[in-house]
Amino acid sequence: MSKQTHILFVCLGNIVRSPLAEHMFQHLANEAGVGDRFSVDSAGTSAFHVGESPDSRMRRVAASNGLKYDGASRQVENDDFERFDMIIAMDGDNRRNLLLMAQKQNYEHKVHLMRAFDSQAIPTDPVPDPWYGGMDGFEKVYKIIERSCQGLLDALQSGELEV
Ligand code: 4NP
Repeated sequence: MSKQTHILFVCLGNIVRSPLAEHMFQHLANEAGVGDRFSVDSAGTSAFHVGESPDSRMRRVAASNGLKYDGASRQVENDDFERFDMIIAMDGDNRRNLLLMAQKQNYEHKVHLMRAFDSQAIPTDPVPDPWYGGMDGFEKVYKIIERSCQGLLDALQSGELEV
């Protein structure tokens, strides 16, 4: 079997955006018949919600689209830069914080922005944080994460992106 690609999705709290990205990517890879080629996880740059389950509003939107998941929030650790091939930030603030950690180990090249893989965005666009808004924000984030994960999977599968 060829080597697995290890991907870590990262947001601030690891309860809204990055858990969905983790499970969305695995779901799309499974559907494409290549689930075993990847090992995915998610984490937060903050410790605000460590141990908590993914956000119920985001999970409700995902479930209505047929995607169910669970988990517990954890914070990014220095070891993650060694263990993962790609570390994907949901927005510029999280990317900056990841780069500060990555540069200590010369792993800046592993840090990417999520919407660089969204066919309907420019690479610096954030996956917006829907925390303080209404359900429409969660619906929008769901679609952004679905498109970005599909774009990432396609780029890895086509060989356009090598890690
Ligand atoms: P996440 O969303 O970074 O996508 O998990 C947030 C979760 C919690 C907070 C903000 C964003 N918060 O302010 O507690």
